[in-house]
Amino acid sequence: MKKAGLAAIIIILLVVAGGWLFMRNMGMGGNVPEQGGMGQGMMGGSNNNVNNDSFSDGEKPLPIPPILEDKNPEPGKAEFSLVAQKGSMEFLKGKETDTFGYNGDYLGPVIRVKKGEEVSIKVKNELGEATTIHWHGLEVDGEQDGGPHTGIQPDTTWNPQFKIEQPAATLWYHPHLLDKTGEHVYKGLAGLFLIDDEVSERLDIPKDYGVNDIPLIVQDKQLDSDGSFDYDLSMHDVMMGLQGDTIMVNGAVNPYVEVPKGKVRFRLLNGSNARIYNFSLSNGQEFYQIGSDGGLLEQPVKMNNLVLSSAERAELIVDFSTFKEGETVELTDQGTSFMKFVVTGEQTGPSEIPAQLADIPDVDPSTATRTREFVMAGMGRNVTINGKQMDMDRVDEELKLHDTEIWEISNESTGMMGGNGGMAHPFHAHGTQFLILDRDGNPPPANETGWKDTILVYPGEKVRAIATFDHKGIFMYHCHILEHEDAGMMGQFDVQ
Ligand code: C2O
Ligand code: CU
Ligand code: CU
Repeated sequence: MKKAGLAAIIIILLVVAGGWLFMRNMGMGGNVPEQGGMGQGMMGGSNNNVNNDSFSDGEKPLPIPPILEDKNPEPGKAEFSLVAQKGSMEFLKGKETDTFGYNGDYLGPVIRVKKGEEVSIKVKNELGEATTIHWHGLEVDGEQDGGPHTGIQPDTTWNPQFKIEQPAATLWYHPHLLDKTGEHVYKGLAGLFLIDDEVSERLDIPKDYGVNDIPLIVQDKQLDSDGSFDYDLSMHDVMMGLQGDTIMVNGAVNPYVEVPKGKVRFRLLNGSNARIYNFSLSNGQEFYQIGSDGGLLEQPVKMNNLVLSSAERAELIVDFSTFKEGETVELTDQGTSFMKFVVTGEQTGPSEIPAQLADIPDVDPSTATRTREFVMAGMGRNVTINGKQMDMDRVDEELKLHDTEIWEISNESTGMMGGNGGMAHPFHAHGTQFLILDRDGNPPPANETGWKDTILVYPGEKVRAIATFDHKGIFMYHCHILEHEDAGMMGQFDVQ
C-alpha cells in the first residue's frame, strides 16, 4: 500500500515536471499578449515569433474587399450570392499557394445590409468537400445560423433567409463545419458582414467605404520558405492554437494604405485562428474605439492600445489631421509593425468625433431569470467546457425563448506548476449579443461596455455577461481559438 502510494506520487511528479519542461521547450509562455503597446515593457523587445520584418517584398497596396452586389432591387429586401471555391494566391512575389475563398481566391466580399431588411443569401459550395457558413454575431434563428448542423455538401447551394433586427455593427462570416473550422478559415474562408441603421447613418462619423472607412482583417499565417502555407498542426499549435509567423491584413503581407488627413475609421476583425493581438500605433498616438463586436459604443473611448482576441471586432477612429502630406505611421502588434498608413493631402470627413454614439440599454441583472455557469479548462486536445467536449447529439443547455440570463464564464487555466503562462480563451456564443456585467467582480473597461459576442477570459478569471435570447433553435457556444473549438471546446444550447 505505502509503496504503491509513493510510486504513484513519484509518477505524478515526473509527469508534471515533464509537462513543465515540455512547455518550456515549446516556448509556451501562454497566449496573453504583452500589455502596454509601443513595445515598452517587453522581455525580448518584440512579440513572440512574428517576423514580418523579414519580408521586403516591395510595397503592396492594402486590398479592400469589395461590397457584394445586392441583386434584389426592391427596397427592404436584399439578395446575395456567395460561392465557396478553391483558389491560389501569391502572398510573396513569385510564390503560389493553394487557398479557399468566397467569390474569389482568398477571403470574401463584404455583405452589407440595413436594419429591418429581409435578406436572402445563396451559398454555393464548390470546394469539393462539405462546409458550412456561419454569420458570426448575427441574431437569427438556429436554422439560419450556419452552425455545424447545417452542412453544405459539395455542389449544393444553401439559401438561408432572415430579417435584420439588430443595430449597426461590424460582424463577419466563416465556415463552421465540425472539426474543420480551423482549416477552412485558415485557407481563406472569411468575410465581413456589415449592418447599417438610422443611428450609424445619422452620426457624423467617417463612412466613405475604402476611403475613410477601412476594413482591416488581421490574420497570421505560418508561411513556408516557398511562400505557401498548409494547415499542418504542430504540437505547439495543438496547445496554443495555430499561430503563424507572418501577420497579414486583408490577405496582404506588410501592405500600405493611403488615408486622407483627418479622421479615419477602421473596422478591425481579428480573423486569426488563435493569435491574440495587442495593437498600437508606432508613434504611440492615441485613437478612439467607437464600436465593439455587436455595434457602436455609447461614447468613444480614448486608448493607445487595443487587445483583440480571435473573432473580436473593434471600430476605431484615428486622427491623421496633424500629419504632413506623405507622412506615415505603422500599425503594430506589441511593437512589431505589420502595415503602414500613408497620409495624403486632402482633409475629408468630420472634424469632430461625436461625443454620443449609440444608445445601449442599462442592464439590470435582476431581470435575469437565471445564472448559468461555463467553466473553460484543459489543455491541448483535452480542452473542455463544463468538463465536456462537443457532441453533436447532445444538447448541453436548454433555454426559454425571450429569457434574459446571466452567463458566468470562467477560465480554470493557471499555467503549469501554478505559474503564469496559462491560456486565455475567447468565449463566443451564437444567436445573441451580450453586455459584460463584470470581470472578477470589477466593471468592464470602457471599451467593453458595448455589445459583445466574443469575450476574452484570462487565466483564472471569471466574467459575468447578460443577454436576452430572442431567437429559437440550436446554437453553439465555444472557445474561438479554432484549434480548441475543433478539439471539442464547444457545446450546444437550445432556445425554445
Ligand atoms: Cu465565429 Cu461559432 O463562431
Ligand atoms: Cu458565431
Ligand atoms: Cu481556448
